[in-house]
Amino acid sequence: MNKRINIAIDGPAGAGKSTVAKMVAEEISFIYVDTGAMYRALTWYALQNDCNVDDEPGLVNLLKKTDIQLINQGGVLHIYLNKQDVTEEIRSSEVTGQVSYVAKHGEIRKEMVAKQQQLALAGGTVMDGRDIGTAVLPHAELKIFLTATVEERATRRHEELVSKGIKSDYLSLKKQIAQRDKLDSEREVAPLKKASDAIEIDSTSMTINEVVEAINALIDKGDYNV
Ligand code: DC
Repeated sequence: MNKRINIAIDGPAGAGKSTVAKMVAEEISFIYVDTGAMYRALTWYALQNDCNVDDEPGLVNLLKKTDIQLINQGGVLHIYLNKQDVTEEIRSSEVTGQVSYVAKHGEIRKEMVAKQQQLALAGGTVMDGRDIGTAVLPHAELKIFLTATVEERATRRHEELVSKGIKSDYLSLKKQIAQRDKLDSEREVAPLKKASDAIEIDSTSMTINEVVEAINALIDKGDYNV
């Protein structure tokens, strides 16, 4: 059998990348790789170990002692750090507020990118993040850049939190998302950027299913090896 393709999905925070990537992967039996979760896991570990997010050598040291595994268990992606399940912990607001500072360091990105490339070596992955199409998998056969207005992204996150019974303030959410966009887009190393050969999908007025359908149509049209 020929090597299966890799699909890169990049875009700003809250555009629906992970939900869409997971659904696309499930449909074609690919492995879903959530690269944001890897940066989040390191951030959580740094906070646990009182390592400052600006201390690049300290973070590199920590990363060397860190084994991060992404394991699909019954359709749910679990994140393990040194064998501890940190799936819930890495979504805390504390981690969300700090992760962009950890992800801006060149040495950290070098290590993470190498791990991510390793995961995609055999093909058959849907990988989501900020730099997948530009830096991690520049030769990915299909690249999607998924966007939505900051207002729409904040509204979606707000509604998600409220539906889970979690207190949420729309305006501060919008501010946080805009701040994360700014940090991720303006950092020196591998900033959030659309790859020149990526196909942009603006999901502002689309449902999740419509986005998944649009990507499936691109897969069919490209006649890729899936
Ligand atoms: O997708 P997410 O919100 O879980 O990502 C968390 C942070 O990690 C995000 O603010 C930027 C960073 N990130 C990155 O720099 N490169 C990636 N490939 C994935 C995420």
